[in-house]
Amino acid sequence: MSFTVAIDGPAAAGKGTISRAVAEHFGFAHLDTGLLYRAVGARMLTGKEPVEAAQALTADDLGDPDALRTPDVAQAASRVAVIPEVRAALVDFQRAFARRAGGAVLDGRDIGTVICPDAEAKLFVTASAEVRASRRHKELLERGIASDYDTVLADVRERDARDANRATAPLLPAADAVIIDTSDLSIEEAVAKAIREIAAHRD
Ligand code: CDP
Repeated sequence: MSFTVAIDGPAAAGKGTISRAVAEHFGFAHLDTGLLYRAVGARMLTGKEPVEAAQALTADDLGDPDALRTPDVAQAASRVAVIPEVRAALVDFQRAFARRAGGAVLDGRDIGTVICPDAEAKLFVTASAEVRASRRHKELLERGIASDYDTVLADVRERDARDANRATAPLLPAADAVIIDTSDLSIEEAVAKAIREIAAHRD
């Protein structure tokens, strides 16, 4: 039986951490849909046409997720993500993943609104731009990537504006999504809250 959890939210809100923990708790598979857009963005940075790159995307393009989790690739991802044909090319893969037997967690920007409007549970994870920037800054430094807080804050704000204002599948909470603001929550508290909300939809 399938059970889909949609987790959306702005840049660096903690969706990935929460999604991984929730997937592990319920024994569901997890898809970080941001990686799909990042893979297309990375191909664009090497000169490939984004729509062609999206149409030709394979699992191999996602083989090295850490190489895709860089600030340059994040910006490129948000630029290709405004192109309707890029988004269209990625829909079937995401929907098939969502329907897999045994349950699935998908995190992104438009999962609860466009990709899986019938998801059994929908969360919208957010936090203030400053808190998100400081978490991403810390994460980049821990991974050995040079980072500067003000630059990360500007990057987060720029991507949020582009993601929220685009015409196709803009970043916005589904009408029936539960909003979790993690600004003042620890990771453990945010995960516990997400698990409680999802469990409430399982009966
Ligand atoms: O990890 P972070 O929140 O910084 O970014 P991400 O989830 O990896 O997404 C990177 C970019 O891909 C976003 O800024 C969006 O422009 C785009 N994206 C999207 O448009 N739709 C999705 N479902 C997921 C990501």
